[in-house]
Amino acid sequence: MSKKLVVGQIGCGAFGTDIHGTLAHKHPNIGKMKWACDVFDRNAQAFAKRFNVEKTTASFTDVTTDPEVDAIFIATTHEARVPIIESAAKHGKHIFCEKPMAMTEWEAYQIVRAVKQSKVKFCVDYMRRMAPAVTALKREWLKHKAHPKHQPWRYTEKPREKLLEEKTTDFLVRVQDESSSYRMVHLDPFHGGGLIIGEAVHWLDLACWLFDNDRPVEIQAWGSARMRYGIYLTFQSGNAATILMTPNGTFDYPKEMYEIAHDAALFRMEFFVENQYYGRPGPEQELFPLARDPLPKVGKEGGLSGFLKKHQTRCNESKNVKTDWGALLADHGYGEMFNGFIEAILHDKPVPCSAMDGYHATYLGELAMKSIELAKPMPVPVDKWDYYVDV
Ligand SMILES: NC(=O)c1ccc[n+]([C@@H]2O[C@H](COP(=O)([O-])OP(=O)(O)OC[C@H]3O[C@@H](n4cnc5c(N)ncnc54)[C@H](O)[C@@H]3O)[C@@H](O)[C@H]2O)c1
Repeated sequence: MSKKLVVGQIGCGAFGTDIHGTLAHKHPNIGKMKWACDVFDRNAQAFAKRFNVEKTTASFTDVTTDPEVDAIFIATTHEARVPIIESAAKHGKHIFCEKPMAMTEWEAYQIVRAVKQSKVKFCVDYMRRMAPAVTALKREWLKHKAHPKHQPWRYTEKPREKLLEEKTTDFLVRVQDESSSYRMVHLDPFHGGGLIIGEAVHWLDLACWLFDNDRPVEIQAWGSARMRYGIYLTFQSGNAATILMTPNGTFDYPKEMYEIAHDAALFRMEFFVENQYYGRPGPEQELFPLARDPLPKVGKEGGLSGFLKKHQTRCNESKNVKTDWGALLADHGYGEMFNGFIEAILHDKPVPCSAMDGYHATYLGELAMKSIELAKPMPVPVDKWDYYVDV
């Protein structure tokens, strides 16, 4: 397809505006942003004004049934997706859907079925798998896995065969956040569903993407599914992912740190701006540019140190976190995922994150919450992983 796309935005709240609107507005293959749809008229109007959008509506069917529209972007609240996706797929619109794709397995099933019945491209925005720092982390780990090289000074007690645990890879996600900023709707069990189904799905998806075809076999979670939890996800090969989340941290330090430990080496990502590599000869550090940088003159060295200086400066210059902080943005992969979706439409390629990926993350999120309720590990049955939806 060589034509420029006509698109509609459904859900014009904070994220739809800041990320979808901004990316669509400047995308060279998007010819027209035709619709801004929101049940809250003021949000639709503000979106339309900001991005020069032709029409506004409160009814998503105006967008999904418009013959001129090629693709829709969904950034509604989580619980509203199914009827929008069913209608869009039925009318042949390509769909970019925010995370979580669904809040329950049943919702996910309906979405997978609707997409399978149609020929549309459907992409879920688990964009962390597209972030440059994250793809670099995976690349370095895989390189080491294929050809392990150790530091010459490494001490080995006595050469021996590795034990089984020593042949595996451990992936750690540490998340620290300051919960005073949370909108309480995210913690409501039937709207936001809490932070496992609303947010940990990002890291569950990331673990599945990192370990590729390695099938998860068991999940164990503890704490509170709402906002303070730990999750241990084990894979068939013995690989494991640990996700630790505290809401009792501080905005003064970035939220996410990932570590991959494998065969006497450690690969660490600090908040999408800096990777550190230990235990193998070669570069020890890699830095990544920001997606948006309102303070290019501050923290010019980049990486975590540069980011913290920029952050400190904006804290000193800011009176209101909500209105003043938006512009400083590390590269979480938003642009890469969005571009991947548009490329998939234009060149009939696979999307970077499919409906089945979206189902997997939701299923694991639900299972983690069940594990907390029952205080026991939960198996991931093979038929729930190799999910078959008949159409
Ligand atoms: N990918 C990411 O990292 C990321 C980050 C933040 C938010 N999100 C996701 O984006 C979505 C939106 O989050 P937000 O912070 O912008 O929330 P928000 O509440 O600011 O915006 C949601 C908007 O959707 C509208 N809406 C709800 N139901 C609708 C319907 N049926 N039709 C049309 N409009 C409808 C609401 O009126 C609201 O304006 C959430 O699902 C969230 O998980 C993703």
